[in-house]
Amino acid sequence: MKVLVAFGTKYGSTVKVADAIATEMRDAGHEVDVVDLRERIPVEMDRYDLVVVGSPVFIGKWTKPSQEFLRRNAQALAERRVAMFVCCSDILFEEKVEAARRMYLDDVATSYGLAPMAMGMFGGEVDFNKYGMFTRFLLSKVGAREALEERGMEVSRPYDFHDWGHIRNWARELA
Ligand SMILES: Cc1cc2nc3c(=O)[nH]c(=O)nc-3n(C[C@H](O)[C@H](O)[C@H](O)COP(=O)(O)O)c2cc1C
Repeated sequence: MKVLVAFGTKYGSTVKVADAIATEMRDAGHEVDVVDLRERIPVEMDRYDLVVVGSPVFIGKWTKPSQEFLRRNAQALAERRVAMFVCCSDILFEEKVEAARRMYLDDVATSYGLAPMAMGMFGGEVDFNKYGMFTRFLLSKVGAREALEERGMEVSRPYDFHDWGHIRNWARELA
């Protein structure tokens, strides 16, 4: 089948997730286009049998280009097979996972009239050295940095909390 993997990203780590999903699908014999939604927002959904769309979460929201992709293609996506994923740090906190799944996946799918065949919640990367002053201030203010440190994370260096096994399995099940 022909597959589109369309993803949002701000700091770049979700590129690796999209590529890992694409690799699994290609290994299963499918033809895959990968589109970084910062570069362009595809609208030619009729070319695809399956559309995989994902975004990291920033202050509770998908990135703007990912929201725009969903808005422009809502009708076409409602008529074909869709899978959605998010990358987020809430996955590190057991007590937050259920609400995060609801807010970042269920509610987003519902708000665009979609009933995805699969919804994946994955980890991501935090790197305080990449963030500007305002972002660092914001993250301290909401207690994010402290919460991560309490989990034993060393946030003065890039911290990668992707579970690649989980991501690859999820993609394999779509294929
Ligand atoms: C300013 C900021 C806000 C964030 N807000 C959330 C959030 O509300 N919920 C969450 O679970 N993760 C949040 N995260 C974690 C990101 O989703 C995670 O770092 C992601 O892997 C970033 O993806 P990217 O490198 O592709 O941009 C936030 C990260 C930053 C830097």
